[in-house]
Amino acid sequence: MSWKLAVLVLLLNVVIIRTLDNGLARTPPMGWMQWQRFRCNIDCVNDPHYCVRFYVAGYSVMGSFLNKTGRPILYACSWPVCMGKNLIIGDYGLSETQQKVQMGMWAMMASPLFMSVDLRNIDPRAKKLLLNKQVLAINQDPLGKQGMRVWIDTTGTLEYWTRPLMSNGSYAIAILNTSDYGMSRHINCTLKDFKLPSANSYLITDIFGGENLGKFGLSDRIVLQLHPTDIFLATAVPMSFS
Ligand SMILES: *[C@@H]1O[C@H](CO)[C@@H](O)[C@H](O)[C@H]1NC(C)=O
Ligand SMILES: *[C@@H]1O[C@H](CO)[C@@H](O)[C@H](O)[C@H]1NC(C)=O
Ligand SMILES: *[C@@H]1O[C@H](CO)[C@@H](O)[C@H](O)[C@H]1NC(C)=O
Ligand SMILES: *[C@@H]1O[C@H](CO)[C@@H](O)[C@H](O)[C@H]1NC(C)=O
Repeated sequence: MSWKLAVLVLLLNVVIIRTLDNGLARTPPMGWMQWQRFRCNIDCVNDPHYCVRFYVAGYSVMGSFLNKTGRPILYACSWPVCMGKNLIIGDYGLSETQQKVQMGMWAMMASPLFMSVDLRNIDPRAKKLLLNKQVLAINQDPLGKQGMRVWIDTTGTLEYWTRPLMSNGSYAIAILNTSDYGMSRHINCTLKDFKLPSANSYLITDIFGGENLGKFGLSDRIVLQLHPTDIFLATAVPMSFS
């Protein structure tokens, strides 16, 4: 079969039928998915009758049947989650920033990741992204709490997300701009905007930039430029002022 060249990171939607602590999927599953088995055509422009949109109904129906068994089942199906708008649907090729957004939001949401990519000719930058240890660490954080959107602007295209990490008061924070046109956006925010608790100042590390941005109190300004459909992902580790 012909492999599509584009790197495609599929985020899985997981329906957990019943909450229980049996050790199953305590941290998000990760893996590589065989395209041929889980055929998942997302090209709704050129192939409208067989693209993934049409799988969604089946997914829900299957889910309700599984639920009727009354057994605890972790049920996952490959189905791209559209964060914001059209990040995956309609195109095999994702821009670099879109791939960053997928990786970053997958980490914030503690979502299982199944990548589907031709590993024989994976783009080096995409590979680096998929292997980013700090993003993976956020995703696999043992506290297992999902990130929450804590703020959205009036146009609905700029979002702040916060995810508690570990149990030592660390957080992952993300700024997401889902708009795909225009110029870079000037961001000027504080940790207060991310609803972090006020006891400490935080050491901020830019995850994709791989840069330590320094120590920030809750009211200190964080100023940065965010490109269209881009994400700023950082960890905030509490430090004492002393
Ligand atoms: C499963 O069934 C229960 C009981 O009927 C219902 O409350 C729940 O919403 C269902 N969950 C899903 C994911 O359909
Ligand atoms: C809390 O956990 C983070 C993530 O593992 C770690 O980097 C940090 O040093 C820890 N902070 C404290 C105060 O223990
Ligand atoms: C997101 O970025 C685009 C392009 O940089 C910009 O036009 C838009 O205003 C930004 N979003 C918001 C909410 O401002
Ligand atoms: C950020 O916002 C604050 C408060 O509105 C303002 O005083 C400061 O000049 C701004 N800084 C930049 C670089 O935009």
